[in-house]
Amino acid sequence: MSNPEQDLVSQIDLKALPSHIAIIMDGNGRWARRRNRPRVAGHRAGIESVRETLETSTALGIDVLTLYAFSTENWKRPRTEVETLMGLLREYLRKEIDNLDRNNIRFNTLGDTSGLSNVIQEELVHAIDRTRTNDGLRFNVALNYSGRDELRHAMNAILAEAREDPRLLDGITEEDIARHLYTADLPDPDLLIRTSGELRVSNFLLWQIAYSEIWVTETMWPDFRKQHLYEAIIAYQKRERRYGGLAPALVR
Ligand code: FPP
Repeated sequence: MSNPEQDLVSQIDLKALPSHIAIIMDGNGRWARRRNRPRVAGHRAGIESVRETLETSTALGIDVLTLYAFSTENWKRPRTEVETLMGLLREYLRKEIDNLDRNNIRFNTLGDTSGLSNVIQEELVHAIDRTRTNDGLRFNVALNYSGRDELRHAMNAILAEAREDPRLLDGITEEDIARHLYTADLPDPDLLIRTSGELRVSNFLLWQIAYSEIWVTETMWPDFRKQHLYEAIIAYQKRERRYGGLAPALVR
């Protein structure tokens, strides 16, 4: 008897996995509304998708997984929703930190975490310190993150550096910019996944996704399961990445 999950896994080339997968988790509110439940029920249900995605990525041998959990624009949401999101993050870290560590996962954040409450900052520092020496999957959560703000911050840091190192005044390089981003020590995402069918990048990793393959699914984030991740990877492996060049068959 055929097993649909096994069928999908068998289509994945484990030697050509995307090294870095980034995900815009979207659709929690709509998922809840369709069930006549409050928006926060969607966020709570989305935690299970986070768990399963992380577990599946670890099992496959993905190097880096980055999730977009809270943007600088998300502060505009009702206070109770923001508080629930922060509470869920805290609860997640408390419950999962042992599991992350046991699985050799290295946790980190992207974004201006100084804008988060002290209790959340403490929880984050604890999780980062606890998993600092792990050398398995690198799990990043973008919090109080904005791609434009990240670039603005990088430009200001370069300006400050140029006061000490006037060579920078002759012109800055792509490397100069990249080393001042939150992702300085990470490869760019190979695959960007967005759930809930929206065709936007929403200020996420603007510099880093220049050549990422984008895969969008109609599935709402709380319904995102391992088969969706497999489908995304299979689709990614069928793409021809040309980085602005030509496919080998077209070069003569
Ligand atoms: C987008 O759905 C989702 C978010 C803004 C929050 C995602 C956060 C979590 C799943 C919980 C915390 C994360 C971790 C890593 C523990 P939406 O509310 O914009 O949905 P809508 O577009 O349908 O309204």
